[in-house]
Amino acid sequence: MATKKLIVVLGATGNQGGSVAEVFLQEPQWRVRAVTRNPASTKARALAARGAEVVQADLDLPSTLLSAFENANAIFAVSDFWGLFGDPANEAKAKGQQLNVWAANHETEQLKAVIDVAARIPTLERFVLSSLSNATKWSRGRYTHVYHFDSKAKAEAYGRETYPELWKKTSIFQAGFFLSNFVSTPIFQPVMTAHGKAQFVGNLDPDVKLPFIAAEEDTGPIVKALVQEDAGKNIIGYREWSSLRELSKAFSQATGAETECIRLATGQSNIPLPSELRLELDDNWAYCNEFGYEGRDDPTIIHPKDLDSSPELDSVVNYFRKQDWSRVFTQEK
Ligand SMILES: NC(=O)c1ccc[n+]([C@@H]2O[C@H](COP(=O)([O-])OP(=O)(O)OC[C@H]3O[C@@H](n4cnc5c(N)ncnc54)[C@H](OP(=O)(O)O)[C@@H]3O)[C@@H](O)[C@H]2O)c1
Repeated sequence: MATKKLIVVLGATGNQGGSVAEVFLQEPQWRVRAVTRNPASTKARALAARGAEVVQADLDLPSTLLSAFENANAIFAVSDFWGLFGDPANEAKAKGQQLNVWAANHETEQLKAVIDVAARIPTLERFVLSSLSNATKWSRGRYTHVYHFDSKAKAEAYGRETYPELWKKTSIFQAGFFLSNFVSTPIFQPVMTAHGKAQFVGNLDPDVKLPFIAAEEDTGPIVKALVQEDAGKNIIGYREWSSLRELSKAFSQATGAETECIRLATGQSNIPLPSELRLELDDNWAYCNEFGYEGRDDPTIIHPKDLDSSPELDSVVNYFRKQDWSRVFTQEK
C-alpha cells in the first residue's frame, strides 16, 4: 500500500482546524497530525480516538512547531486572536498597551513563527494559511482599527515577501463570518421580544452581502480542495453569500419565528463593550458595509464556486435548524 500523505492541522481542537482534521480523517490517502497545547483535553482525546496522531506544540514555542511539522506534506495553519484577547493572563503581558492591539501584534508574531518553520519543511507540498483581508489596505486607510483582520494579513504579507518558494506552495483561506456567532457570541445573538419576534441587532447594514460560514463544518471541505488543487489561491470561505436581512429570513424559515433587523448607529451597542473593542468593531462593521468583509477590491479573491472541485456545503437554514435557540433566548444579557 502506498504511504499515506501527512497533513498537520493547527487549531485541530477548534472550529476551523477541527473541520479540517475531520475531513482528512475520512480520506484514505491521508493521515492527520493534530496539534494542541493540551493532548489530555476532551477534544484532543476525541481526535486521537478518531485516528489522529495528537501532538503537543505551542505557537508561542517555535521549537515545538518544528517537530510538529516534521515530514508534513500539507499544513493547515490558524491562529486565535480572540483567545489571546480573552485570556486575562495576557493583560500583564500587554504592559499598558490596549489588549486588542497587543493581541493582534502577538497573533502576527505567532503566524510569522509558523511560516518561518513551515519554510524549513522539505517534504511540504501545500501550506494553507487561515487569514483575513487587510482592512487598512482595502479601505485605503479609512479603517485602521480592524486589528484581528490586519494581524493575519500582515503575517500573510510577511510570508509572501520572505519566502517566495514557500508561497509557490501556499493558498490562503479566509474564513467568512461564523454562523456560530449568532448562537454563542452575545453581541450577535438574536434577541426575542415579548411578542415573539427575533431581532437581529447590530451595526451591520442589513442589506450588505456577507460571506457566512459554518466554520466547524465548511472549513474542511474547502481546505481539502485547496490542498488538492494548484496553490496560489486566495479564497473567501462561505456556504452562503447573503445579507443579514436574508439571513434573518432563513432564521424564520428554520424556527418559524418572525424576525426583524435593527441597525444601530456607529458607536451604539446593545451590549456594553470595552472601549478598545468598541472602536475595533465599529471599524470592522463600517469596513464590511463599505468595502466588503473580504475587501471586495482585492482582485485575487476567489469564491468556493471557483474551485475545480467546489464542495457541496449545507444551507444556512439547515444550520439554524440544528441549533438550540431556547438556550440563546433564555440567557441573561
Ligand atoms: N468568529 C468569526 O466570525 C471569525 C471569522 C473569521 C475568522 N475568525 C478567526 O478565527 C480564529 C479562531 O479560529 P477557530 O474559531 O477555528 O478557533 P477556536 O475554535 O477558537 O479554537 C482555537 C484553537 O487554537 C488553538 N490554539 C490557541 N492558541 C494556541 C497556541 N498558543 N498554540 C497552539 N494552538 C493554539 C487551540 O488549541 P488548544 O487549545 O487545543 O491548544 C484551538 O484549537 C480567530 O483568529 C478569529 O479571528 C473568526
